[in-house]
Amino acid sequence: MKDFLRTTDLSPRDLFLLLDLAERFKGQPYQHRTELQNESAALYFNKPSTRTRISFETAVARLGGIPIMMGPNDLQLGRGETIEDTARVISRFCKAFIIRTFSDSDVEVFAANSSIPVINALTDGHHPCQSVADLLTLKEKRGDLESCKVAFLGDGNNVARSLMEACALGGTDFAIASPSGHELESEAVQSARELASRSGSSIETSNDAQEAVQGADAIYTDVWLSMGDPEEERAARLKILQPYQVNDELMSQAKPDAIFMHCLPDHRGEEVTAEVVDGPRSVVFDQAENRLHTAMAILYALLENRLHGAERDRR
Ligand code: CP
Ligand code: NVA
Repeated sequence: MKDFLRTTDLSPRDLFLLLDLAERFKGQPYQHRTELQNESAALYFNKPSTRTRISFETAVARLGGIPIMMGPNDLQLGRGETIEDTARVISRFCKAFIIRTFSDSDVEVFAANSSIPVINALTDGHHPCQSVADLLTLKEKRGDLESCKVAFLGDGNNVARSLMEACALGGTDFAIASPSGHELESEAVQSARELASRSGSSIETSNDAQEAVQGADAIYTDVWLSMGDPEEERAARLKILQPYQVNDELMSQAKPDAIFMHCLPDHRGEEVTAEVVDGPRSVVFDQAENRLHTAMAILYALLENRLHGAERDRR
């Protein structure tokens, strides 16, 4: 497995290897500090980022390398150089390429034309690196992924899709409640159900927030308008998504010790109330910290060719 573009690129074994590596990096951050010695990794971020950018830059530094950060206007892409040529050139200089952009197919073209590992740092469709950090956090807080249920409330977006896929691989039950028109597409749900049937977990979808949170160990939400979503939709989304807001009342319907998760940044007063995100059951900053340890694990595992990829790709 050369690239990490979506969570389902991983086999269940790959996912557990990444979690083990991340735990080890968390305990001993500098154990592989010569991995990227005298080398560099390129980061191209075509959307804003706090956690992903800084955690990957720090991960590259802790592995002994130099991160080279490029924003939307820094590459010749803006003047018409192709993605294909950009990928070929960067492959001659750097050891890894970490990309945040809009289109999933653009990242696939980067990956197909790169000889170095390409990592999806968020696209419109997926946020695979976030999902690995989410499962690490869940494992730390609840002990055993296979006896856990995660309920995601709100927009069926990139974070929800990758989290569903990670739960399906990890054996964690997953329920999502979204309003009509904002559900995850049925093909993604169906594929996740096939993975879940092999790991012994379940994937449930509904339009009912109360139903989704029953028996949940973790309640997860994300913003109602993602980067790249049309700003004109904001008012309509705030209205239709209101019943999915995570507040004390909704938290009280999950398990009594259920935790609250969010990839951040959050919009207090929209998808979650301040009482919940700042309250005692919120683990959002542990989750954010785990972005760093999992970024190190993902980079290290790809550089060392330790991931074997999903079974479907081997068939
Ligand atoms: N969770 C996450 O990806 O945050 P950033 O957008 O700040 O990177
Ligand atoms: N769904 C959000 C996640 C941000 C980390 C977005 O894509 O904007």
